Amino acid sequence: MFDTMTVTKAGGAVCGALLIFLLGNWGAESLYNTEPAKVHGEEVAQAYTIDTGAAAAPAAGTAAAGPDFATVFAKADASKGEQVFGKCKSCHKIDGTNSTGPHLNGVVGRAVASVAGFNYSDALKKVGGDWSPEQLDKWLESPKAFAPGTKMSFAGLPKVEDRADVIAYLKSLGG
Ligand code: HEC
Repeated sequence: MFDTMTVTKAGGAVCGALLIFLLGNWGAESLYNTEPAKVHGEEVAQAYTIDTGAAAAPAAGTAAAGPDFATVFAKADASKGEQVFGKCKSCHKIDGTNSTGPHLNGVVGRAVASVAGFNYSDALKKVGGDWSPEQLDKWLESPKAFAPGTKMSFAGLPKVEDRADVIAYLKSLGG
Protein backbone atom coordinates (compact mmCIF):
# COMPACT_ATOMS: atom_id res chain seq x y z
CA MET A 1 0.00 0.00 0.00
CA PHE A 2 1.96 3.05 1.23
CA ASP A 3 5.66 3.02 0.77
CA THR A 4 7.89 4.00 3.66
CA MET A 5 8.58 7.38 2.15
CA THR A 6 4.91 8.37 2.04
CA VAL A 7 4.41 7.36 5.66
CA THR A 8 7.48 9.30 6.72
CA LYS A 9 6.37 12.38 4.81
CA ALA A 10 2.88 12.24 6.28
CA GLY A 11 4.29 11.81 9.78
CA GLY A 12 6.69 14.67 9.23
CA ALA A 13 3.93 16.92 8.00
CA VAL A 14 1.83 16.20 11.10
CA CYS A 15 4.75 16.79 13.46
CA GLY A 16 5.72 19.97 11.64
CA ALA A 17 2.20 21.33 11.78
CA LEU A 18 1.99 20.54 15.49
CA LEU A 19 5.31 22.23 16.14
CA ILE A 20 4.27 25.37 14.27
CA PHE A 21 0.97 25.40 16.14
CA LEU A 22 2.72 25.10 19.51
CA LEU A 23 5.26 27.75 18.62
CA GLY A 24 2.53 30.07 17.39
CA ASN A 25 0.54 29.55 20.56
CA TRP A 26 3.56 30.22 22.75
CA GLY A 27 4.46 33.30 20.72
CA ALA A 28 0.96 34.68 20.91
CA GLU A 29 0.76 34.09 24.63
CA SER A 30 3.98 35.89 25.34
CA LEU A 31 2.84 38.79 23.15
CA TYR A 32 -0.72 39.08 24.32
CA ASN A 33 -0.64 37.87 27.88
CA THR A 34 -3.73 39.14 29.64
CA GLU A 35 -3.12 37.44 32.98
CA PRO A 36 -1.30 39.46 35.62
CA ALA A 37 2.39 38.64 35.44
CA LYS A 38 3.51 36.31 38.20
CA VAL A 39 6.91 35.66 39.64
CA HIS A 40 7.17 32.84 42.18
CA GLY A 41 3.40 32.95 42.47
CA GLU A 42 3.27 36.66 43.34
CA GLU A 43 1.78 39.25 41.06
CA VAL A 44 4.22 41.76 39.71
CA ALA A 45 3.52 45.02 37.98
CA GLN A 46 3.28 44.87 34.22
CA ALA A 47 6.13 46.46 32.33
CA TYR A 48 3.70 49.08 31.20
CA THR A 49 -0.01 49.56 31.71
CA ILE A 50 -2.29 51.20 29.22
CA ASP A 51 -4.18 53.90 31.07
CA THR A 52 -7.79 53.58 30.08
CA GLY A 53 -8.81 56.32 32.52
CA ALA A 54 -11.07 53.86 34.34
CA ALA A 55 -9.39 54.37 37.70
CA ALA A 56 -9.63 58.12 37.51
CA ALA A 57 -13.19 58.18 36.20
CA PRO A 58 -15.55 60.09 38.47
CA ALA A 59 -18.26 58.22 40.31
CA ALA A 60 -21.40 57.34 38.38
CA GLY A 61 -23.79 60.19 37.98
CA THR A 62 -21.13 62.88 38.09
CA ALA A 63 -19.56 61.75 34.84
CA ALA A 64 -20.88 64.68 32.84
CA ALA A 65 -18.27 67.31 32.23
CA GLY A 66 -18.75 70.72 33.74
CA PRO A 67 -18.39 72.34 37.12
CA ASP A 68 -18.76 70.06 40.10
CA PHE A 69 -21.53 70.42 42.66
CA ALA A 70 -19.47 72.24 45.30
CA THR A 71 -18.50 74.96 42.83
CA VAL A 72 -22.07 75.45 41.64
CA PHE A 73 -23.51 75.27 45.15
CA ALA A 74 -21.14 78.00 46.35
CA LYS A 75 -22.96 80.47 44.10
CA ALA A 76 -26.41 78.90 44.19
CA ASP A 77 -29.43 81.19 44.08
CA ALA A 78 -32.17 80.43 46.61
CA SER A 79 -34.76 82.57 44.81
CA LYS A 80 -34.25 80.56 41.61
CA GLY A 81 -34.47 77.49 43.79
CA GLU A 82 -37.91 78.59 44.93
CA GLN A 83 -39.03 78.36 41.31
CA VAL A 84 -37.43 74.94 40.90
CA PHE A 85 -39.29 73.89 44.05
CA GLY A 86 -42.48 74.36 42.02
CA LYS A 87 -41.75 70.85 40.69
CA CYS A 88 -41.75 69.43 44.20
CA LYS A 89 -44.79 71.26 45.59
CA SER A 90 -47.31 68.72 44.39
CA CYS A 91 -45.84 66.24 46.86
CA HIS A 92 -43.89 68.23 49.43
CA LYS A 93 -45.05 70.89 51.86
CA ILE A 94 -42.81 73.21 53.79
CA ASP A 95 -45.18 74.02 56.63
CA GLY A 96 -44.25 71.02 58.74
CA THR A 97 -47.04 68.78 57.52
CA ASN A 98 -46.62 65.68 55.39
CA SER A 99 -48.32 65.15 52.07
CA THR A 100 -47.48 62.55 49.40
CA GLY A 101 -43.90 63.14 50.53
CA PRO A 102 -42.53 64.15 53.93
CA HIS A 103 -42.39 67.87 54.78
CA LEU A 104 -39.14 69.48 53.74
CA ASN A 105 -38.61 72.34 56.16
CA GLY A 106 -35.24 71.84 57.80
CA VAL A 107 -34.40 68.94 55.50
CA VAL A 108 -30.83 70.15 54.92
CA GLY A 109 -28.86 68.52 57.72
CA ARG A 110 -31.83 66.42 58.81
CA ALA A 111 -31.37 62.67 59.24
CA VAL A 112 -32.53 60.72 56.18
CA ALA A 113 -36.05 59.29 56.50
CA SER A 114 -36.60 60.78 59.96
CA VAL A 115 -39.93 62.64 59.83
CA ALA A 116 -42.16 61.06 62.44
CA GLY A 117 -45.39 59.68 61.11
CA PHE A 118 -44.24 59.49 57.50
CA ASN A 119 -44.29 56.02 56.02
CA TYR A 120 -40.92 55.89 54.23
CA SER A 121 -39.93 53.14 51.82
CA ASP A 122 -37.40 50.58 53.01
CA ALA A 123 -35.16 51.81 50.19
CA LEU A 124 -34.88 55.26 51.72
CA LYS A 125 -34.73 54.02 55.30
CA LYS A 126 -31.60 52.04 54.64
CA VAL A 127 -29.71 55.00 53.14
CA GLY A 128 -28.80 56.31 56.59
CA GLY A 129 -26.82 59.45 57.43
CA ASP A 130 -27.94 63.06 57.08
CA TRP A 131 -29.17 65.10 54.13
CA SER A 132 -26.02 67.07 53.50
CA PRO A 133 -26.16 69.30 50.41
CA GLU A 134 -23.93 66.75 48.61
CA GLN A 135 -26.22 63.88 49.55
CA LEU A 136 -29.27 65.85 48.41
CA ASP A 137 -27.51 66.60 45.14
CA LYS A 138 -27.07 62.89 44.39
CA TRP A 139 -30.62 62.09 45.49
CA LEU A 140 -32.22 64.82 43.41
CA GLU A 141 -30.20 63.98 40.32
CA SER A 142 -31.94 60.62 40.21
CA PRO A 143 -33.96 59.42 43.21
CA LYS A 144 -34.32 55.97 41.64
CA ALA A 145 -30.60 55.53 41.07
CA PHE A 146 -29.78 56.83 44.56
CA ALA A 147 -32.30 54.65 46.42
CA PRO A 148 -33.63 51.93 44.11
CA GLY A 149 -37.19 51.15 45.19
CA THR A 150 -37.94 54.64 46.56
CA LYS A 151 -41.53 55.83 46.68
CA MET A 152 -40.57 59.24 45.35
CA SER A 153 -41.75 58.99 41.76
CA PHE A 154 -39.84 61.95 40.45
CA ALA A 155 -37.46 61.64 37.48
CA GLY A 156 -34.85 63.93 38.97
CA LEU A 157 -33.28 67.28 38.19
CA PRO A 158 -30.66 66.70 35.48
CA LYS A 159 -29.15 70.21 35.76
CA VAL A 160 -26.63 70.67 38.56
CA GLU A 161 -27.60 74.39 38.76
CA ASP A 162 -31.24 73.47 39.44
CA ARG A 163 -30.19 71.04 42.14
CA ALA A 164 -27.85 73.54 43.79
CA ASP A 165 -30.50 76.29 43.67
CA VAL A 166 -33.27 74.17 45.14
CA ILE A 167 -30.97 72.90 47.89
CA ALA A 168 -29.99 76.50 48.69
CA TYR A 169 -33.70 77.31 48.87
CA LEU A 170 -34.43 74.38 51.18
CA LYS A 171 -31.50 75.44 53.35
CA SER A 172 -32.88 78.97 53.58
CA LEU A 173 -36.14 77.56 54.99
CA GLY A 174 -34.40 76.31 58.09
CA GLY A 175 -36.11 73.99 60.52
C1 HEC B 1 -44.56 62.65 42.91
C2 HEC B 1 -44.33 63.11 44.25
C3 HEC B 1 -42.96 63.73 44.56
C4 HEC B 1 -42.32 64.75 43.90
C5 HEC B 1 -42.75 65.49 42.66
C6 HEC B 1 -41.12 65.01 44.66
N1 HEC B 1 -41.04 64.16 45.74
FE1 HEC B 1 -39.58 64.10 47.17
N2 HEC B 1 -40.45 62.52 48.04
C7 HEC B 1 -41.64 61.95 47.65
C8 HEC B 1 -41.88 60.76 48.44
C9 HEC B 1 -43.08 59.83 48.33
C10 HEC B 1 -40.77 60.65 49.32
C11 HEC B 1 -40.50 59.52 50.32
C12 HEC B 1 -39.62 58.56 49.55
C13 HEC B 1 -39.43 57.19 50.17
O1 HEC B 1 -39.87 56.95 51.31
O2 HEC B 1 -38.83 56.36 49.47
C14 HEC B 1 -39.90 61.78 49.06
C15 HEC B 1 -38.74 62.03 49.74
C16 HEC B 1 -37.96 63.17 49.55
C17 HEC B 1 -36.83 63.53 50.38
C18 HEC B 1 -36.30 62.76 51.58
C19 HEC B 1 -36.90 63.37 52.82
C20 HEC B 1 -36.56 62.68 54.11
O3 HEC B 1 -37.22 63.00 55.11
O4 HEC B 1 -35.65 61.82 54.15
C21 HEC B 1 -36.34 64.71 49.89
C22 HEC B 1 -35.16 65.50 50.40
C23 HEC B 1 -37.16 65.07 48.76
N3 HEC B 1 -38.15 64.11 48.59
C24 HEC B 1 -36.99 66.21 48.00
C25 HEC B 1 -37.72 66.50 46.86
C26 HEC B 1 -37.47 67.65 46.03
C27 HEC B 1 -36.44 68.73 46.31
C28 HEC B 1 -38.33 67.58 44.97
C29 HEC B 1 -38.45 68.51 43.79
C30 HEC B 1 -37.26 68.75 43.03
C31 HEC B 1 -39.16 66.39 45.18
N4 HEC B 1 -38.75 65.76 46.33
C32 HEC B 1 -40.19 65.98 44.35
C33 HEC B 1 -42.47 62.40 46.64
C34 HEC B 1 -42.15 63.37 45.73
